[in-house]
Amino acid sequence: MRKKGRVVAKTHAPAPPRLRLLIASSEVVPYSKTGGLADMVAALAKSMARRGHRVGIVTPLYSGIREKNPGLQRLDYFMRLPLGDAFVEAEILTLEPEPNLTVYFVGEPSMYERPGIYGDKAGDYPDNAQRFSFFSKAVAHLARYLPWRPELIHIHDWQTGLVPLFLRHQREREGWADCPPSLLTIHNLAYQGVFPALAFPFTNLPPEDFSPAGAEFNGFLNCLKTAVLLSDGLTTVSPRYAREITTPEFGCGLDPILRHRAALLTGILNGVDYDDWKTERNEHLPASYSARALAGKAACKAALQARMKLPVAPNIPLFGTVTRLADQKGMDIQLGALEEMVAANLQFVLLGSGSTELEREYQRLALRHPTKVAVRIGYDDALAHQIEAGIDFFVMPSRFEPCGLNQMYSLRYGSIPIVRVTGGLDDSVVDIADDRLEADGIKFRELSPRALAKAIRKALALYNVAALMRRYRTNGMRADFSWARTAAEYENVYRKLITERSTTGLQ
Ligand code: ADP
Ligand code: GLC
Repeated sequence: MRKKGRVVAKTHAPAPPRLRLLIASSEVVPYSKTGGLADMVAALAKSMARRGHRVGIVTPLYSGIREKNPGLQRLDYFMRLPLGDAFVEAEILTLEPEPNLTVYFVGEPSMYERPGIYGDKAGDYPDNAQRFSFFSKAVAHLARYLPWRPELIHIHDWQTGLVPLFLRHQREREGWADCPPSLLTIHNLAYQGVFPALAFPFTNLPPEDFSPAGAEFNGFLNCLKTAVLLSDGLTTVSPRYAREITTPEFGCGLDPILRHRAALLTGILNGVDYDDWKTERNEHLPASYSARALAGKAACKAALQARMKLPVAPNIPLFGTVTRLADQKGMDIQLGALEEMVAANLQFVLLGSGSTELEREYQRLALRHPTKVAVRIGYDDALAHQIEAGIDFFVMPSRFEPCGLNQMYSLRYGSIPIVRVTGGLDDSVVDIADDRLEADGIKFRELSPRALAKAIRKALALYNVAALMRRYRTNGMRADFSWARTAAEYENVYRKLITERSTTGLQ
């Protein structure tokens, strides 16, 4: 419960010093995206810059970025770094999308300017170990070069996992005495960047760094493990996932190390960038609406039904999902539940891409039930907004979910999320069993088609009670996941790490 603050007159505490932060990520909206990581990093950086901090983002220069951003400037710093037996040269291009924020793109066309970010239909690119070893090395070198001297390096997921090892090397062997501390945010423990030991030489680090105290794990190079062990601080993207990953069930083999470092680990729920995810004056939506004026939502539903070639029927409950078709998302469970429920009076739309087998299964379901199920395979940002706005219920039966952004987007769009009780889904959705008056979604526990079908039946019952439906919708639309709270929590973590580093004598 929020306490009323006492007003302390006339004493003005000095403003806390402005922080200098370098954020490294393999994806950043609007330049690149395969999932929520890109949204989160962009919104974090923007919020920190708007709080007055000096922020840099480092990210690879992928295909198309050069063409779409004619304002790119070339930094007067040419990188030439060893990568195994070779030397690789990269240029650094910069952009200033807003005050206090600079994006540094690492340009190396043969590695990054490809059709995909991590791979193509044939699978992951075979040289991802080189691509992301080089990127992590570039992050450490850029951090050392930048004249504004970043005082903390915030890395995200396995693609930047080797950064703390490079920093340690720089500090202990290359004379960078005041090297800044690093913070790792884990967005997904299931992707660790595991490569055969033969990939270690691409780091150009001494062989003793390929050890349990360094980059080795069970005989392999493991990028995420390296950062879990060596970064100075650890966060993940929801409080529940922070607890889950210290258990064998969710720890993906890294739980012993995470338990060992649990005191350093904080779960901070992601925020939503309401500048992008909004129901009013949204260029992607055919009509505006709000919690007080919901009429526009009906127009969005009709437009979506028409676009997806379903019967335009205001009174048929419309369910939907926007997702990567990956094991994590429980889309196999959802197929089973839909088979069971498709005879009911409902419609379902799906936008997704990923596993070829799931893509085919969903397309087959749509072919068999053309008036009830519509499927679009691919990646389409505008359609994602239109689905969030046009549906009545958003289905998210994830096996595990570090945070999940779609359920929070759904809440803001007045679409009721149906979620499994796991990770950030549990932290962000209120079921009627959690709070009768504040309920804004439907939760289920068991990972089975039967349990999801039961939750869908609950949704159908709810749909028939207009007053209750309206209460759920407005509760959801008023829930506040804005970045102000998330950014304040990150700022606390940043300050703590920076202060610790300056007082431990490492500088
Ligand atoms: P994850 O990062 O695990 O995929 P999140 O819920 O955190 O899950 O974020 C997914 C993000 O990616 C959301 O912004 C969602 O709208 C978007 N997204 C996922 N699949 C698609 C798609 N096929 N087309 C458009 N956007 C998509
Ligand atoms: C990952 C997770 C997702 C989270 C996103 C942003 O992709 O799978 O749950 O919302 O990162 O943190």
